[in-house]
Amino acid sequence: MRTPLIAGNWKMHKTLAEASELVKGIREGVGGISGVEVLVCPPYQHLFPIAEAVKGSAVKLGAQNAHFELEGAFTGEISVPMLVDAGCTHVILGHSERRQYFAEDGPLLAKKVRAAVNGGLTAVYCVGETLEERESGRTAAVVERHMTEAIGKDVPADRLVIAYEPVWAIGTGKTATPDQAQEVHALIRGLLASKYDQATAESIRILYGGSVKPGNAETLLAQPDIDGALVGGACLAAGDFVAIIQAAETTVAMPS
Ligand code: PGA
Repeated sequence: MRTPLIAGNWKMHKTLAEASELVKGIREGVGGISGVEVLVCPPYQHLFPIAEAVKGSAVKLGAQNAHFELEGAFTGEISVPMLVDAGCTHVILGHSERRQYFAEDGPLLAKKVRAAVNGGLTAVYCVGETLEERESGRTAAVVERHMTEAIGKDVPADRLVIAYEPVWAIGTGKTATPDQAQEVHALIRGLLASKYDQATAESIRILYGGSVKPGNAETLLAQPDIDGALVGGACLAAGDFVAIIQAAETTVAMPS
């Protein structure tokens, strides 16, 4: 049985005062929730204060990116040991915005994933096709390439989470249908089985991301291979994010 993970990717949003307000609302909202793992990924400069704000609660802390070197002359970058020092347990890697706007590619992401897991973090590794790739029938090939480029047996399965995020669904209000998402999640599960083995593949969480909202979370999360959500826009309001976490709690309680 995989524990669902609901992760909030705050992207480049929120001043410290706004971030503190948001995390306070999330902390209060998840007080009575059980059986769901909750992760918030604020901008770097808020990591230390948000770590303080979630102390003693079930809310975990992650970052949105990391460099693969431990330290060095890499202006503007941040290392895995720095994230661990700030209280992070997770890091998002390979988000489509990093791939698209910052030219992050497979070989770079392979190094980042290894740096993260070797440094003690859980890597939330994102994969997913663009609209053009989907419409030309290349979804499976693109997802397989993203998986193969950065994920291998040397990546410990217990430090790995995969996020399937169709690029055309991110921030657009267009969500993959539960069937569309399930189809790709099952494909990813199969790829994990071929890299590790079936039992290990069954233990790895595969999140869906792309316009997840309180109104569509439950049907997505009810799919057998959807083990949580990576939420962008809807994680910026505590009420919406908590409603998605509650949807995950409901699906856990449902007989499968
Ligand atoms: P969205 O973003 O929920 O705003 O579509 C998801 C993501 O980019 O992780």
